[in-house]
Amino acid sequence: MTKNIVVLGSLNADNIMKMPRMPLVGETMALTDVTTAPGGKGANQAVAASRQGANVSFIGAVGNDSNGQFMRATLLTNGVNVDAVTTNSEVPTGSAYIMLQENGANTILIHGGANQALTTMEIDADVIAQADTLIAQFEVPLDVITTAFKIAKANNVQTILNPAPAVYDLTPELMRVTDIILPNETEAQLLSGITVKNDEAVLNRVSDALLAKGVARSIITLGAAGSFVADGDKRWWAKPNKVHAVDTTGAGDTFIGTLASVIDSDFSNLDEAVKRASIASAIAVTRAGAIPSIPTRDEVDAF
Ligand code: RIB
Repeated sequence: MTKNIVVLGSLNADNIMKMPRMPLVGETMALTDVTTAPGGKGANQAVAASRQGANVSFIGAVGNDSNGQFMRATLLTNGVNVDAVTTNSEVPTGSAYIMLQENGANTILIHGGANQALTTMEIDADVIAQADTLIAQFEVPLDVITTAFKIAKANNVQTILNPAPAVYDLTPELMRVTDIILPNETEAQLLSGITVKNDEAVLNRVSDALLAKGVARSIITLGAAGSFVADGDKRWWAKPNKVHAVDTTGAGDTFIGTLASVIDSDFSNLDEAVKRASIASAIAVTRAGAIPSIPTRDEVDAF
């Protein structure tokens, strides 16, 4: 059955700076390439879900500028409904500055712009109430996410929280209305206070700490090491698909959008959904860019 998904989140123009390695403090280094591509964790997750065949609507904001038009057009081209995307003339569209190293690893700086100026007034409650799943990240204000998740839960809509970047606390108010929390290893470490290692005992402790915040399920994405799933007391390590990574930007977002597009309302197929999400993100890292790298349903089927 085709899922109806709403993404509440960020729309960024990604400025990608390719470099041999991270520069040292005080060093001047020549970039090997500079490009611009559509991105933002929200946009990436929405496109990932749409390319897997879900019906996707977006709640967010852009500035009244060319990047805003670029991001709207990107969502529309990818079949994402933008009726609930507003234009804020006071601030620019969000932007990201991505330092991409030759080994595919990235470091990202963001300027929130219109994403950070989003208010609860921009939440379209009807769109959320009609969805199967609501996804949000931490690139829009916390009160907006909390309000939207409360609307979702009041209407039996599944909620997936990607606490990225880990700039807010996992408040009890938000955790009460969150079904799955999905951090990467850096975010899991910041949110749990435990140093994350690719070690089952450590990952169990980190998962315990996350679940103790009041959420029933966590999935920690571990890059080339796969992902660690905690569904209450049930724990498993989803092993990675071995690929040659050229650019990891948006891989976590691809995982989340894909997971949301297939997961059942009672979470009974969590194992299968994680496997499919892992395949989609493995394909994404073999290609450049965030949105340009996200695979279609057919590509995931064929992997
Ligand atoms: O997760 C990758 C994304 O993070 C980039 O597209 C960038 O815009 C930042 O939001």
